Amino acid sequence: MAMLKIARMGHPILRQVALPVPDPKSLEIQGLIRDMMETLEDCGGIGLAAPQVHVSLRVVVYGIPGERLTEEHEDRAEMPQGIPQGIPMSVLINPRIEPLGEGFSLGFEACLSVPGLMGQVPRWNHIRLSAQDGAGEFLEREVHGFHARVLQHECDHLDGILYPQRMIDLTTLAFAEEARRFAGQAAEDGGV
Ligand code: NI
Repeated sequence: MAMLKIARMGHPILRQVALPVPDPKSLEIQGLIRDMMETLEDCGGIGLAAPQVHVSLRVVVYGIPGERLTEEHEDRAEMPQGIPQGIPMSVLINPRIEPLGEGFSLGFEACLSVPGLMGQVPRWNHIRLSAQDGAGEFLEREVHGFHARVLQHECDHLDGILYPQRMIDLTTLAFAEEARRFAGQAAEDGGV
């Protein structure tokens, strides 16, 4: 069990374009995936990209609790009891994102590499994701809403981009503690 140290904004590795992974099934990558998942679970975050743990490779792990997907019915499977089911912990190797349509939305995001802050970021509503999974299998799917937001945030990390660089209204950049105090539910609903 290994907890990896998280790089914070200002560390140059977060500005690098990460390299593609030639062999997802290599021991090195399998170990990295395992350590990233344990680190993400320990931090209580939604997503983690390898550059955030000082490894400049195109690897992302993420998982989304069901309650965060309430407005994106396309990505929200209902369990028999009607309890929303989230996206289980997943791995993306060499992911690529293509916007489908022009629609975008503003939503609050936070980042383990920008601790304590949150801000409103525009993201495409509807994207096509192409990637390999942790077993090296190729996958392609369309993704909407908050799930699509998470993927855009994480893939930006692979290109050396942090969410503040995507913001169009920097007045919404705030300490999460204060934003929750003054903005109430709107801020509570956000955060990647
Ligand atoms: Ni992040």
